[in-house]
Amino acid sequence: MGQGIYIVDGGHPLNGRITVYGAKNAVLPIMAASVLTEEEVILHGVPHLSDVEDMKDILRGLGAKADLSDHTIVINSKDANGYEIPKELSRKMRSSIFLIGALISRFGFAVVNQPGGCEIGLRPIDLHIKGLRALNVDIREEYGELRCDGTDVSGARIGLDYPSVGATENIIMAAVKAKGTTVIHNAAREPEVVDLAMFINSMGGRVTGAGTDTIVIEGVETLHGTEYTIMPDRIVAGTYMAAVAAAGGDVLIEQVIPYHLLATASKLSEAGCRIMWQDHAVRIERTAPLQEMMLVETRPFPAFPTDMQAQIMAVAAIAAGTSVIRENVFENRFKHAAELNRMGANITIMDRTAIVRGVEQLRGTEVSAHDLRGAAALVIAALAAQGRTTIRNRAFAERGYQDLAAEMRSIGASIVKGE
Ligand code: UD1
Repeated sequence: MGQGIYIVDGGHPLNGRITVYGAKNAVLPIMAASVLTEEEVILHGVPHLSDVEDMKDILRGLGAKADLSDHTIVINSKDANGYEIPKELSRKMRSSIFLIGALISRFGFAVVNQPGGCEIGLRPIDLHIKGLRALNVDIREEYGELRCDGTDVSGARIGLDYPSVGATENIIMAAVKAKGTTVIHNAAREPEVVDLAMFINSMGGRVTGAGTDTIVIEGVETLHGTEYTIMPDRIVAGTYMAAVAAAGGDVLIEQVIPYHLLATASKLSEAGCRIMWQDHAVRIERTAPLQEMMLVETRPFPAFPTDMQAQIMAVAAIAAGTSVIRENVFENRFKHAAELNRMGANITIMDRTAIVRGVEQLRGTEVSAHDLRGAAALVIAALAAQGRTTIRNRAFAERGYQDLAAEMRSIGASIVKGE
């Protein structure tokens, strides 16, 4: 990972309207879940992202057909016959882990390599393994491979030690066609889990309680084809909001679910932004100087999302006073702080806490992204900075943002891609 640059000329306020597309973290598990049926699955609102391309390649590698045109992907896994995920692809993308649950439900077996993904911490998969074992899946770890036999998968009562998003999704997918009923306690309540459950139910699955901490999955014999629209990306919406907060201006962000954005909005209004809700849109305006934010603590939904931590730090960097940001979800997710400091920010990291002393102005310079959301934070900082910023490793942003430069230009930013 690590090609391409963004060149940003800061100091242009953002104005106009911008539309949010489908959520990366919803579409990836849903694409994985599409192998649960032998019939055709049509997904709308699919974002153009490198992670989506990678998941498409994985599905094709398993023998499924997957064709993306415009924002619709048609997946048909009738002829899928493989249950081994090629090593290079599972290394590249952590979401390949979801395929364990899906492949077990479909074929009874799955072979996946220990997954990769963004460099934001240890990201163990013990909760996935524990949950799957509780469903009577036999899992052997050999040479970095997980060999899973789920031919006798059966419903169980599972209490997660932590409400992991991925583990919750994986267990749901493994339990969909299991004998009997599965109950997940302390389940993740993230909207993307709800989207997956709704998708599965649209195929004839029986998942209830998604969005609460107790999810019940009644095993069904078969699932049928479906047509489904992916939920809007709440992190992309939040990123646009943070960009307006940092650069100033007045932007209407369309196609959002307001409930998903409350934690981010609450912090940005504390910083002095005006936030106006509509049914499916949010307007954010920032005309006065930014103020410090009291403690921003990342926690599972509906609290402040870890996927917005880097972006809010870029805003805090230029807010008057001192903001404190605590990262509770991933232990190594502050790599953007040092890069922001290169631009003149005053951020001190102590273990999982960032003390951000606001400065009046950031200065453009050369910086490097180290992960997806960190890349977004650097773009946000650069939009507000004086002069030109060159951001290396654009490819990180492309895992989760669809043509970020063009989108930002459409609301008045000066940003171009380079090699
Ligand atoms: C998902 C999102 C990611 C987001 C995260 C938290 C996708 C593709 N990615 O990641 O963007 O930042 O939710 O909202 O949907 N953990 C364990 N053992 C496990 C699993 C997780 O200890 O088996 C720990 C992780 O290391 C981390 C915490 O639990 O500290 C949260 O992880 P989890 O909720 O599983 O996140 P992901 O599903 O990986």
